[in-house]
Amino acid sequence: MRNKTLILMLLFFALLMTPVGAGAQSKADVVDGEGHQWWQHAVFYEIYPRSFADSNNDGVGDLKGITSKLDYLKDLGVDAIWITPCFPSPQVDFGYDVSDYENIDPMYGTLADFDNLVSGAKNRDIRVILDFVVNHSSDQHKWFMDSKSSRTSEKRDWYIWRDGKGPGKPPNNWVSTFGGPAWTFDPSTHQYYYHFFYAEQPDLNWRNPAVKDAMFDVSRWWYKRGVAGFRLDAVDTLFEDPGLYDNPIVGSGKNAYGDPIEENKSNTKLPEVHDALRGLRKVADESGAVLIGETWTKDVAELKQYYGEHSNELQMPMDLMLTKLTFSAPVFRQHIAGIDGAGGWPVYVISNHDIVRSYDRYGDGQHNDQIAKVMAALYLTLRGTPILYYGEEIGMKTTPPTRKEDVKDPIGQRGWPKEKGRDGERTPMQWDGSENAGFSKATPWLPVPPAYKTHNVAAEAQQPDSVLEFYKKVLKLRHTNRALLDGSYTPLHESDQNVFSYLRSYKGEVVLVALNMSASPQKVNFELGKNGFSSANSLLATPQSAAQGNTLTLEPYGVFIGQLSH
Ligand code: GLC
Repeated sequence: MRNKTLILMLLFFALLMTPVGAGAQSKADVVDGEGHQWWQHAVFYEIYPRSFADSNNDGVGDLKGITSKLDYLKDLGVDAIWITPCFPSPQVDFGYDVSDYENIDPMYGTLADFDNLVSGAKNRDIRVILDFVVNHSSDQHKWFMDSKSSRTSEKRDWYIWRDGKGPGKPPNNWVSTFGGPAWTFDPSTHQYYYHFFYAEQPDLNWRNPAVKDAMFDVSRWWYKRGVAGFRLDAVDTLFEDPGLYDNPIVGSGKNAYGDPIEENKSNTKLPEVHDALRGLRKVADESGAVLIGETWTKDVAELKQYYGEHSNELQMPMDLMLTKLTFSAPVFRQHIAGIDGAGGWPVYVISNHDIVRSYDRYGDGQHNDQIAKVMAALYLTLRGTPILYYGEEIGMKTTPPTRKEDVKDPIGQRGWPKEKGRDGERTPMQWDGSENAGFSKATPWLPVPPAYKTHNVAAEAQQPDSVLEFYKKVLKLRHTNRALLDGSYTPLHESDQNVFSYLRSYKGEVVLVALNMSASPQKVNFELGKNGFSSANSLLATPQSAAQGNTLTLEPYGVFIGQLSH
């Protein structure tokens, strides 16, 4: 009897001592009575670690730098940060060539620095998302080194090896998206290996169950360390048709690298991608983690597939089509209607480390700050989760190199001058007006754009009408207004060529958002009375935009966000 009591007591204490969930979110982590998950109410922020903040003044950003800016992110209204790859890497593709999936590159710090970052973030209610490069590893990864060592090595089949069609002839006509053939010959084993990206980024063979399991285990390893989810890199390219058919050539032209233009029919978007995503999701669900996808899709129907037929693939496939639209009310209206109606939770992105920044993509050269505010008011008030790219909130400009010898991104070196590479959208974060924009005391790895003098965090924090202050206000509103968080989306005035307007409605609370996407002042009659409302009370508006009775006046590129009342 005594022994039994003792055993029970020991069991009880053992239970008390068991670490719970080690930081990743549990399945029950819903934020309201309607079952919304934390990521549906969260604002995400993408950090390119090389360029965010340099704590050890070697010219390259690092994890301690990110940790030192957590208060800034909290104050801005960020709930989750996605850090692009910070794992050990030869840095051929600046981290997207991973040589060890379960460590931190010394250039960014240590695993202890990572743990500090996660706990510092947790103290501020900020979650950490990592970037999982699932399609390929670095050619310096021990898996590939083994795979390459002989035709009979244990990991030979972890990558895609094939015989050529004859001397000097690769297995088929596939070209790498980063230029040149997608096959590289290995003279010691006399076979070619496949790489959708650079030759230093060999594709993993996802048809091999051992590869799949190893990758699932990598994700588990990080979930246990407190990671709240992953952004999955280049998911489209996970599988290739085993028949290795030539890709069709489109037209007779050449791309920036001098290669024929191919339709990637046999090496992208194979149906098996969805099996892999379901597998990754199953593992994510063990920890209540979220999966974001780098989902380049041609239309909404294709995007829809990434949620999974039973919502069992990606919770957050990114709407990257949004980054390709021209700045126009009818164009945006049509696109948003499609995404909002797709049946999943939308994920809006207007910039990232691979594409020209939104500030100058949409800017007309004269009203760029105003246009940046219109874009902020748009993607931060739609139904769905926004992902900000660092620097968008201060109106950072794309600043590409002007001379080939300054180019760092190998795509730019290879494709110059047609393709200048992605350096322009990866320049250091502009913290203040001091030398190197407060990013580093050493010369930064990429030059700081001259615009840092006017567009930086410190200066903009002092100007009530800055892009930064506008972002902060919209984000604050978004976090506190139920209609903006969960309300349905209803477009208004659908034939208006200049003003994009919509309602967000939640249980009788209605918010009107009106965005003048033109360079001339606009007046819109919303006939509030007819729709059962008596007034629109401003929640946030640009200086000369206001509602009076039924009429809304908007300055050029003006924004009005107002609560409708009966
Ligand atoms: C993704 C990344 C990009 C990288 C590529 C290869 O598209 O966003 O930066 O170069 O994958 O990993």
